[in-house]
Amino acid sequence: MAPKPWPEVTTFNNWYADMAGSPVKDEIVQRHLGLPPALLSSSLLGWEGIGEVVAALQLNPGATLLDLACGRGGYGLEVAGRSGAALIGVDFSAEAVRQAREHARRLGRAADFRVADLAATGLDSGSVDGVLCVDAIQFARDPAAAYAELRRVLGPGGRAVLTCWETSSADERIPERLRLVDLGGGLTGAGFASVEVLDRPGWRERELAMWEEAAALDPGDDAALQSLHDEAVSVLPTFGLMRRLMATATAPMAA
Ligand SMILES: C[S@@+](CC[C@H](N)C(=O)[O-])C[C@H]1O[C@@H](n2cnc3c(N)ncnc32)[C@H](O)[C@@H]1O
Repeated sequence: MAPKPWPEVTTFNNWYADMAGSPVKDEIVQRHLGLPPALLSSSLLGWEGIGEVVAALQLNPGATLLDLACGRGGYGLEVAGRSGAALIGVDFSAEAVRQAREHARRLGRAADFRVADLAATGLDSGSVDGVLCVDAIQFARDPAAAYAELRRVLGPGGRAVLTCWETSSADERIPERLRLVDLGGGLTGAGFASVEVLDRPGWRERELAMWEEAAALDPGDDAALQSLHDEAVSVLPTFGLMRRLMATATAPMAA
């Protein structure tokens, strides 16, 4: 089987445009992940996971959080809100950023959402206190460049928190981008200190239940539901081969 390619930005733009017209897709995801209706997720981080992410980021009120590959901004808004931090969100999908801005406006929340690449955010070096990257680092075509960008934008002592999956399987049904994920190696190679990669088996139960519902549903003519259904059908056969992870790391203090 040919390896699955890295999705193009147009694929993500279409994915987000479809989502905007599918409240049913959001309801399914939010119900399984335990998320409130106002939290727009495009991934699989649940409510208890958000609490762990907030604790790991150790942001002080007034700090600046970067949500890297922020999608519609749901996690960044929630984490920044709980921490009293200012939020910058970056994603290469202009449609995701448009929806994130609109959603923040609807919620009456200040946030700075920008279109940029994971590996080239355009932010100044050392300009943020924390970086959050939820279920997205696997999309970096040059992972080393993406980890280096995380490190570059963080000030001394700043924390990076990433959620993702890893596998030691060479099963080609798993997309190549996921088989290549190495959170510990990437963060260490970029010069981070105190790198920890933590298994999160409890998060998997919610994910599995969501994929099972999505695989069984009839999407009808709802394109976002169709995409959720197709992803479920493709993910479930190799679900047991994936580890669910949260990685944390600290930018070293200046010498
Ligand atoms: C699975 S979604 C997760 C979005 C968001 N973090 C969340 O959890 O709701 C992956 C995101 O990565 C973004 N992305 C993929 N490749 C990217 C790149 N090279 N630079 C910036 N964003 C990228 C996509 O547009 C998409 O929003």
